[in-house]
Amino acid sequence: MNFSLSSKAIAATKTDCLVIGLPEKGTWPDTTTQADETLGGLIKQLEKAGDLTGKNASVNTIPLVDQPWQRLVVVGTGKDADRTPANFRKALIAMMGALKDGPSKNALICLADTALQGEDAVSNEEARLNLIGRILEDQLYSFTGFKSEKPAARKLKKVTVQASGAGKALKDAFNLGLSTGRGMNYTKDLGNTPPNICHPVWLAEQAQAMAKEHDCIKTEVLDEKQMEKMGMNTILAVGKGSKQPPRLIVMEYRGGKAKDKPYVLVGKGITFDTGGISLKPGEGMDEMKYDMGGSASVFGAMKVLAETKPKINVVAVIAAAENMPDGGASRPGDIVTTLSGMTVEILNTDAEGRLVLCDALTYVKKFDPAAVVDMATLTGACIIALGNHATGLLSNNDELANELLAAGERTGDRAWRLPLWDEYQSQLDSNFADMANIGGRPAGTITAACFLSRFAKDYRWAHLDIAGTAWNSGKAKGATGRPVPLLVDYLMSHAG
Ligand code: BES
Ligand code: MN
Ligand code: ZN
Repeated sequence: MNFSLSSKAIAATKTDCLVIGLPEKGTWPDTTTQADETLGGLIKQLEKAGDLTGKNASVNTIPLVDQPWQRLVVVGTGKDADRTPANFRKALIAMMGALKDGPSKNALICLADTALQGEDAVSNEEARLNLIGRILEDQLYSFTGFKSEKPAARKLKKVTVQASGAGKALKDAFNLGLSTGRGMNYTKDLGNTPPNICHPVWLAEQAQAMAKEHDCIKTEVLDEKQMEKMGMNTILAVGKGSKQPPRLIVMEYRGGKAKDKPYVLVGKGITFDTGGISLKPGEGMDEMKYDMGGSASVFGAMKVLAETKPKINVVAVIAAAENMPDGGASRPGDIVTTLSGMTVEILNTDAEGRLVLCDALTYVKKFDPAAVVDMATLTGACIIALGNHATGLLSNNDELANELLAAGERTGDRAWRLPLWDEYQSQLDSNFADMANIGGRPAGTITAACFLSRFAKDYRWAHLDIAGTAWNSGKAKGATGRPVPLLVDYLMSHAG
């Protein structure tokens, strides 16, 4: 797909499809007024007749004759008072529904001048172009590589977005949005890839391929022998029930000054979670292929950095293993010494995410991080607490937590903070080792984070539990690409 910005007068722009926004009452954006003038008042007439309501996310396609545009797509943008970024996003998604499988080969989208609640149409054009770019890529995603019948090629080949000018700031914002969308799509691809293909070594190969494609990315992969030498025994303990060996994958993007401390991203990369000897029930187990969703989002964010090259240093560490129950598997009751030297009694082999992450969190100390953010599909309890809308956020630092929450708000990729109070720590007491790997049913998301916090004492750290947000179950089953928008926004806010 070819994407570009244009600031040429729309009346002078030929296109298969002109997309405009129509508020429900309220003031029209300039492009809508211009389109109406070119069409001799058609839009006003249709609105009066009740054919166009402007209800948010409504979409009407109107064929045209003898006009510079073959058809007009009118997207309702709702009442002025209700036009929040979230509702605008819904309208954009509805618009893409009409565009992506329609007959148009090219389209001109005039929605970047939509005034959102609390701002005017001029001041935040960059933010809207960023969002439009992201939604364009995100909504054009499909995952069909494993279907034997290839889907018909898409007719739409070129999308132009109308902007007030062609300045660098507008272009950068649009391109960052497009890149974020592509990063999300890469994250979705990794999450959707079946677990017989996507195993730890394959994930490591993806990181090596990224380093090959982009000079600014360096990749290093530790195999099981190197991990054994270092004492990363909990990652090994999780991987040893599988024929697929575990890997620790390190990717570095150095776009900042040499002395700038790096932001470190850590991803849970369980390429399939059977639960191990504490075997999960069979129903829906296929979905545990997305237990590498945390690492997939790290890959997505790294791709965005490689494409947009911000001035920041970022290190990504992925703890990849497959949690299987063969004769070599860890047992409930096993005690393992972590890389930190602390011992863990594995009371439940299904609480494996924290086991691979704890060694990774110890490992990243060597980078002297500005902050560490880990992403993990860590607990079913997080889905019970927050559903599929908010990512669970736990942190040992208020400033970092607030920055991540703000990044989530700005992008609509929201997180919600849960407490990490000391009172919860005692749920991890073990009779035989320094700690147990489970804390019982109450506050499962919090006790999982409490476990991680013990390995993250030396730096500013936040944990994102994305069990509910990285994946859609049901009819739209598949990876969502979250929390790539949150991560990218957070990192960009720290780029020089
Ligand atoms: N990968 C799961 C968490 C999960 C469950 C993610 C459902 C997405 C959907 C994790 O490894 C796990 O099994 N956690 C256990 C922890 C328990 C044994 C303390 C859980 O949530 O049940
Ligand atoms: Mn598990
Ligand atoms: Zn898991």
